[in-house]
Amino acid sequence: MKKWNKLAVAAIALALTAGAFPFLMQNGNAEISKGLALVTNSKGNIQVPDVDYRKDWTMLGTYAVAADDGKEGSKGMHVVYTQPASVKAYRKTGKFPDGTVLLKELFSTTTASMTTGTVSRAKGTDGFFVMVKDSKNSYPDNKLWGDGWGWAFFKGGDRKNTTTKDYKAECLACHVPAKGNDWVYVEGYPVLRGK
Ligand code: HEC
Repeated sequence: MKKWNKLAVAAIALALTAGAFPFLMQNGNAEISKGLALVTNSKGNIQVPDVDYRKDWTMLGTYAVAADDGKEGSKGMHVVYTQPASVKAYRKTGKFPDGTVLLKELFSTTTASMTTGTVSRAKGTDGFFVMVKDSKNSYPDNKLWGDGWGWAFFKGGDRKNTTTKDYKAECLACHVPAKGNDWVYVEGYPVLRGK
């Protein structure tokens, strides 16, 4: 091969590697470590991530809340999403890596008689619960952080301003039954178990 040919091959190889690298990173840990930045500002204030989670993230599962006595169907649906890379990591290690965002979208429902039976389906979004994994306890002075996670609730369509003031008072007690699974109700998320 002539010298300039070799140079051209080397240049192309370099360009291909450089081009592929960010792509590989995006599908690995870098994507998850971006999670913290995705939902927080420098003070650790949490917001709903500005991503197309319904399309680009993995849906972990749905909890359907039964209607009140005497009514049919489900009065609400809780649909939970996370980054695809955190599912991959969880399947390998049984743990959520730092930067994992668990986004629970609250849906109101419509219940109707359909050809399959009495069926409830998701309607409008009522709010969001967000948990973001942070084993390093990055914001010790912020009352939305602790026990390995950042915690926040968002009412209605507001994705920026949480109504949560203190996760210990507003979140933790209700998550005690899931403490053994790092506070997460993993039994509702079949994708974490594999095929
Ligand atoms: C009334 C009890 C209760 C309170 C209060 C509560 N949670 Fe939960 N949370 C649950 C239960 C039960 C589930 C799973 C079943 C469901 O969604 O209905 C859940 C699920 C979640 C999920 C989905 C991931 C998982 O753990 O399975 C997130 C995220 C979440 N909660 C965040 C929060 C945050 C943040 C707060 C405080 C602002 C909070 N929760 C307060 C009971 C509660």
